[in-house]
Amino acid sequence: MKTLNKMKSFIILLTSFFMGSVALAGETQEAVAPAVERARLLYEKFGMTSTQLFIVMLLVTIVLVIVVAALSFNAKHVIEFKMNKKGQNTVKALLLLVGLFSSTGAMAAEDAASAVTFSVPFPDESFYIFLGFDIILLLIILYLTGLMNGMLYEFVQQRKRVFWRRMSKSLTDATPIEDEGSILLDHDYDGIKELDNNLPPWWKYGFYITIVWAFGYVIYYHMLGGTLQTEEYEIAMAEADADIEAYKKAHPELITVDNVELLTDKSALAQGRTIFEEKCQVCHMEGGRGGVGPNLTDENWIYEGDIKGIFESIYGGRSNGMQPWNGILNGAEIQAVASYIYHLEPILPPEGQDPKGDNIYKR
Ligand code: HEC
Repeated sequence: MKTLNKMKSFIILLTSFFMGSVALAGETQEAVAPAVERARLLYEKFGMTSTQLFIVMLLVTIVLVIVVAALSFNAKHVIEFKMNKKGQNTVKALLLLVGLFSSTGAMAAEDAASAVTFSVPFPDESFYIFLGFDIILLLIILYLTGLMNGMLYEFVQQRKRVFWRRMSKSLTDATPIEDEGSILLDHDYDGIKELDNNLPPWWKYGFYITIVWAFGYVIYYHMLGGTLQTEEYEIAMAEADADIEAYKKAHPELITVDNVELLTDKSALAQGRTIFEEKCQVCHMEGGRGGVGPNLTDENWIYEGDIKGIFESIYGGRSNGMQPWNGILNGAEIQAVASYIYHLEPILPPEGQDPKGDNIYKR
């Protein structure tokens, strides 16, 4: 019975091929008549010679036919698998259609192939036949992909449902509601009863993991000397301090009179000394013993003599002949030179200038 059916389809398929070919053979003979004028129009329309256009159309058609054939064979299998007779028939009909069309296409191709050999232009009619054929093929492809998508979706949904059911069973190990009677305990607390469900495996394994973890924790942190929280905190704070220092170095303009600090490290003082010798010594003389500018080494100050006051004198200048250095020196440089001045060795009269100012600052 089955073989008979198959033979029937095959014969119908063959006939359709044949008929398609015959149908076209009659027509195209006339269409190939020399239509040079039409070829010229074609060229203007598509920017291709008729031969090129023909090759393009042929290739497109061949690809489409292959896609449709592949899709319909697949769709047929899937539908067979799902035992859906109606769908099967639709796809069979489609297969027949493809047979018909591909034979038409093949025929048109043959005609046009002779056209290529003899350089006879690819006639308009053939072009439109190709075009119509291609559009129908595209529609078939759309239909088939829609069909397959629908089936694939259903299949995937089903697989998902089974997967989740299994998953939930293995995670909770719960007795299904239908069988709950079998695990109901005897006692009854004012109508409230208790089910003797198993502990959910997800919870049990989580608990085992914490036990293993505890051993690992004690061994790592308290026997092998892992970094404890307080230590971690101190390390993090030290890192942050280093970062702040680096940031301050990179942004000297951040040092102002509000946050200036007395520096004591050698490199900062050396930097301050260099600045002093280059910029300040002309007026304040070597070692700051005083010249045009006052003695910076004694305990007497015209203005404030702490680090903030010195910073301010340099940063903003002072009215009687001390220029502002803001803009020439940056905050960090002023801080360095102020710290240097703060650390100067006392040079008192007669080597140094007489003290000026009534503000006394011991250092
Ligand atoms: C052109 C000369 C001149 C130069 C250069 C100069 N100063 Fe002065 N400086 C003075 C004079 C004059 C005063 C006193 C200003 C006043 O009395 O108002 C003074 C005051 C000071 C004071 C305040 C002293 C006090 O007793 O309160 C400090 C600090 C100071 N200079 C530091 C510096 C530094 C640092 C530099 C270099 C970056 C520098 N000066 C460059 C002339 C100069």
